[in-house]
Amino acid sequence: MNIILVGFRGTGKTTIGKILAQRLHKKFVDSDERIERESGKTIKDIFAENGEKYFRKVETQIIKELSLLDDVIISTGGGVILKEENVKLLKKNGIIIFLHADADILYKRIRNDSETQQNRPKLTEHGEFEEISYLIAYRWQFYDRAADFILETTHISANQAADKISYLIKNHVKI
Ligand code: S3P
Repeated sequence: MNIILVGFRGTGKTTIGKILAQRLHKKFVDSDERIERESGKTIKDIFAENGEKYFRKVETQIIKELSLLDDVIISTGGGVILKEENVKLLKKNGIIIFLHADADILYKRIRNDSETQQNRPKLTEHGEFEEISYLIAYRWQFYDRAADFILETTHISANQAADKISYLIKNHVKI
């Protein structure tokens, strides 16, 4: 089985996924990174040149490929749960962990992350904080439906989140 991390931008999917992979001696894969590698473009450029609809098609293609893997940690793009097809594919061979955090803290983390500022496309016409609050509220139902486990990460570090997930995996879930 795979361990799949989902959640909004800034919840630490990639950082936590890498720590987890190290601790559990598993391979780590990032779906956005795969998309960029296979298309030869940044996500921001794909959005700008081809639009979000096209990006979502490519994303599903990559999710199909990743769902064929086994025993890996997969970090996903924040919108992956919007398509039922992606969730079904990921669930076939994986446990989905939803990393949740409050809008206030996500806003702070995203503001302080220069990589996000440069490389991540805007997802709505709203201002930054409004975009986060709006999307979290709208997407909540999708994350909640997709998740096998929900981990609250607002007040914990990436290391602490990885600890909690390792504990969960070792004690409650047979992989
Ligand atoms: C998206 C989040 C991004 C990336 C794309 C769309 C979203 O990934 O997949 O920009 O819809 O929330 P991160 O969650 O890693 O920023």
